Amino acid sequence: MGGRGRFVVADRFATAIAGKSVPVRALLTKVEQDSRLDRAGDRLQKVVLGTLRPRRLRDLLHGVTLGHPLHPAMVQVPVGAWISAAVLDLMPGQRRPATVLVGLGTVSALPAAVAGLNDWAVLSRDQRRVGLVHAAANTVGVGLYAGSLAARLSGRHGVGRALGFLGLSAVSLGAYIGGHLAYKQGAQVNQSVSELHRMTDGWHSLADMATLPQRTLITREVDDDISVILYRHGDEVTVMLERCPHQSGPLGEGEVQEIDGHACVVCPWHGSAFRLNGGEVVQGPSGNDQQILPTRIQDGVLQTRLP
Ligand code: FES
Repeated sequence: MGGRGRFVVADRFATAIAGKSVPVRALLTKVEQDSRLDRAGDRLQKVVLGTLRPRRLRDLLHGVTLGHPLHPAMVQVPVGAWISAAVLDLMPGQRRPATVLVGLGTVSALPAAVAGLNDWAVLSRDQRRVGLVHAAANTVGVGLYAGSLAARLSGRHGVGRALGFLGLSAVSLGAYIGGHLAYKQGAQVNQSVSELHRMTDGWHSLADMATLPQRTLITREVDDDISVILYRHGDEVTVMLERCPHQSGPLGEGEVQEIDGHACVVCPWHGSAFRLNGGEVVQGPSGNDQQILPTRIQDGVLQTRLP
């Protein structure tokens, strides 16, 4: 069977749960557009934003200190533990280590879920709808694993194994939906870096240094439609992509604030802040740094190019 044929079969197979021949991708597209999910989503969003109030906690969970979103890294622990437990469940005499791994997976799923909810609460509406279904599948999975753990601890290992395999099926579905959320809808991926792929090689002139004001955000275009911001401090000029890595907000319309002793640009949409002398994210919800571009002065003209 050719590659195309394999994809079609896999797609149909994945939709067997729907009981009809609707490609799962089309089903998830419907979820993206289903406004009936908004009532539950809006309520949950209020609870999450009302509970996770301290900014430092939210930033930690967004992955600001890492410069990458934390949730995908945290889910490695429960998923790894659960898959290992499933392998042990298929082998004789491995009840004890399998029980330990199911317990580890179930306990470690909690902080991973909190980090995921923290990211989810500041996504766009269509992303939140899919995120809600992702969270529901994982909640069912964690519930099944909690039941599996209870059964194993009370000596009912057959029931524990069965619930474990059901739990693995549920979290696998949740992982598939999470993949759609990240790779198709672009949730928590760097939204600005693709601008670099459109930029042509070579130096691009941006502004006459003699007319460039101090400590003011200026917006310019490279190759006619790639926006960058300029920020001059003395003879140093920062050139940074304008599109916010979180959800493409216009950093050129943001404010410059001093945060932890560094001049930072703060996104006007959700408040992510990036250091103007390096692009590091210092405040979420962005979990990604912002791209700074190299500069040079040629005959009094500020120029930039691809890194
Ligand atoms: S678009 Fe959300 S913080 Fe910039």
